[in-house]
Amino acid sequence: MDKIKVTGGTPLFGTVPIGGSKNASLPIIMASLLTDGVLEVLNIPVLADIKTLYEILKVLGVRITHIDDHTTSFNAAHISELTAPYELVKTMRASVLVLGPLLSRFGECQVALPGGCAIGPRPVNFHLAALEQMGADITIEEGYIKASVKGRLKGANITFPKISVGATENTLMAATLADGQTVINNAAMEPEITDLALCLKAMGADITGIGTSCLTVNGKDKLGGAKYSVLPDRIETATYMIAAAITGGKLTLTDTRPGDVTAVSEALRKMGVEITETDDTITVDGRDRNLVGIDIVTEPYPGFPTDVQAQIMALMLTAKGGSTITETIFENRFMHVPEMQRMNADIRFINDTSVAIAGESKLKGAPVMASDLRASAGLVLAALAAEGDTLIERVYHLDRGYEALEAKLSACGANIVRLHEDKEETKTQDTAQNGTTAL
Ligand code: UD1
Repeated sequence: MDKIKVTGGTPLFGTVPIGGSKNASLPIIMASLLTDGVLEVLNIPVLADIKTLYEILKVLGVRITHIDDHTTSFNAAHISELTAPYELVKTMRASVLVLGPLLSRFGECQVALPGGCAIGPRPVNFHLAALEQMGADITIEEGYIKASVKGRLKGANITFPKISVGATENTLMAATLADGQTVINNAAMEPEITDLALCLKAMGADITGIGTSCLTVNGKDKLGGAKYSVLPDRIETATYMIAAAITGGKLTLTDTRPGDVTAVSEALRKMGVEITETDDTITVDGRDRNLVGIDIVTEPYPGFPTDVQAQIMALMLTAKGGSTITETIFENRFMHVPEMQRMNADIRFINDTSVAIAGESKLKGAPVMASDLRASAGLVLAALAAEGDTLIERVYHLDRGYEALEAKLSACGANIVRLHEDKEETKTQDTAQNGTTAL
């Protein structure tokens, strides 16, 4: 399996185009299952997770036509299969999002249980409870979620006990074709949910409260096709913002939405990073290296995103004074800590959910292992600031979420190369890969 070698110490200068959001593309593409019309989706990033989704859709019978690198159309007029198989689901947890659309359009569906993953157990109980409230009969048999409903799903008043992005998306899609009105209380408010809701509206769905924690959906008999462009990836945006700051360079990110990364911009400004914005660009000037430590708590949107926790930890290591991070969304999302410690990072666990970062760590290159998608991004950032060479293994995690990472970074001066390993090693790593699911 490929490795990435980074030789740190070079400030990055230039422009980085931001791609479409992975986490919005996945549910938006799944929404094609709700209609026999054609859904054309623009600004889809080229990523391993998206390819996995195409494999699942092909199994179900969706006709997929690639129009250009980032535009694809989906035609689910002739669904021939209602089961999402384990071999595909196990590599991507978001596969469970086929459940809502298939169940509401066809009254039946089976999806392999996504299983555990590196950052915690991540159950799907909220997804299932909401669909049951809408009249679905759900059993778990032989590792599969088997869902069916007599007639149509029925509108319901649903209150999630905890904010969940995936459960909100599944329920929202299911509700668009349900009989009557569904109210989703304590809904997640992430921009990716707003994007999905706007795409569903373009397909003819009746949804109000978009962008708030209470979504109201009046079910329709049928949805139609549409053409929809996915919003820019806010996590990719935040990662490159931190790349500018951590290397002491200056980057302008284009085709992005500053309003979606407000919590990250606020945190970086507090640390002393200079940020200027236009409607669709963000310029981050990290040349003044007098950064100070801060305290961060990860929270659902609009709070500081858990998906940027590893990346800002890398930056905190280069600041003056201490910082803390408290992770409130996922258990076990500090897998990058021991890897950063291998690079001479001074990080101490306060308890299971909080760490103290000492700052002014003299980061040194080392061989390290990526454990999940965003942890890998944190390691790449730490490597860009470290003295000497860092060799990052298991980079397939990065390929799930960052399109053309090496090309975008090296165009701005980074010393980063991908090393292709021999077949023997590929086999070993594949086995490891199959044990985890994507974010
Ligand atoms: C999505 C994102 C992921 C991000 C996360 C939180 C995608 C593809 N992935 O993941 O990048 O880190 O939101 O912003 O969009 N939970 C339950 N039961 C459930 C569902 C969730 O207990 O049925 C718990 C989870 O274990 C976790 C918390 O709720 O502790 C939030 O998870 P959720 O928002 O559902 O994350 P995902 O949708 O899986």
